[in-house]
Amino acid sequence: MKIDCSIKDLSLAKSGKSRIEWALNRMPVLEKIRQRFKREKPLQDINIGGCLHITTETAVLAITLKEAGARPLLCASNPLSTQDDTAAALVAEYGIEVFAINGEDNETYYSHIDAVLANEPVITMDDGADLVSTIHKRAKADKGIKLPWGSTEETTTGVIRLKALESEGRLLYPVIAVNDALTKHLFDNRYGTGQSTLDGVIRATNKLIAGNNVVIAGYGWCGKGAASRARGLGGNVIITEVDHLKALEAVMDGFRVMTMKEAAKIGDIFITLTGDISVIASEHFPLMKDKAIICNSGHFDVEIDIRGLENLASSKKQVKPLVDEYIVEGKRIYLLGEGRLVNLACAEGHPAEVMDLSFANQALSCEYLKNHYTELKNKVYQVPEAIDFAIAKMKMDCMGIKIDTLTEQQRKYISSWEEGT
Ligand code: ADE
Repeated sequence: MKIDCSIKDLSLAKSGKSRIEWALNRMPVLEKIRQRFKREKPLQDINIGGCLHITTETAVLAITLKEAGARPLLCASNPLSTQDDTAAALVAEYGIEVFAINGEDNETYYSHIDAVLANEPVITMDDGADLVSTIHKRAKADKGIKLPWGSTEETTTGVIRLKALESEGRLLYPVIAVNDALTKHLFDNRYGTGQSTLDGVIRATNKLIAGNNVVIAGYGWCGKGAASRARGLGGNVIITEVDHLKALEAVMDGFRVMTMKEAAKIGDIFITLTGDISVIASEHFPLMKDKAIICNSGHFDVEIDIRGLENLASSKKQVKPLVDEYIVEGKRIYLLGEGRLVNLACAEGHPAEVMDLSFANQALSCEYLKNHYTELKNKVYQVPEAIDFAIAKMKMDCMGIKIDTLTEQQRKYISSWEEGT
């Protein structure tokens, strides 16, 4: 079969393949799933469209789905996160169709989404809801359009958007919120985003974190991870929040909490992880110190008001790859990765060990959708608890770590209303 793709330079395939093998060797849960999928072929002959970051870890997921008998088709969920060598290797070495080029413009980005949807995938996998939202837009114009059986959603921002669609009664097919699985967000969002965000800042700038004021906007799971890693590197971490409960948690975790207006005056490095717009806004830039570094690790490039920054700046120039220097009132402000996900634009995203859990949820959710879509309503569903816990157990088994089991006496005690002894 001729492999359809957007990749122009397949010479990168060799380096891509050896990097994919590195990830393959660090994703043992997916390996177990792949071995079963290879035997049972649970996804035989179905097209699965994935709008995901095209990384070596996503490659391992696509290879796993292919072993299950599916035809995976991939496009990017962010214009800057595609690893071109990974894309080339997927096409040339693994026969998987990929439509994604690092640095693609908006028009190309959406043409790649169209290329995946042209193959009428019956299951879609999103990271930010772009496939679902494109399908919903089309369905508005064409009531006869063929809808997928269901979709999965990888990220917090996507799940929030989909729940809004569901609550307005406009969701047209079932979605599984992979993000909300415990084996996803407790590890991927916290340790994956935490580590890879700091990795992105360091790769782009080689800036010492120790002794610097690191302002983290948002204390959700991703913010918690980034705050803890920044502290681990010796940063003086400041949290900004809009939610009193999360802010209180940050205070009790030992961080300084203040408004962005206050933090803007003292921060050396600013990282947004909120999911909302203009968290660093026009009013904040003039308050910043000379040489402040700003970046975003939330899904969309809306958290820093870049247009506001452009309007305020007397000049802008690129000083390093993915580092733009803006002069605002005579002071230098450095924006990393054009305000897009710093962990994927400036580094390689989450490590394979953590994506092993996230993508085990994706693979098993695809299988679940295939087996249950006729019973599901047009709702956002949680990953079934049995799948979530099975993944935790598989990971522990793969790590060779054993835990205790309840004795019969303990099980009875914990599940009954007996007086304590
Ligand atoms: N999201 C964050 N890190 C990722 C990775 N390594 N691969 C795919 N999606 C990701």
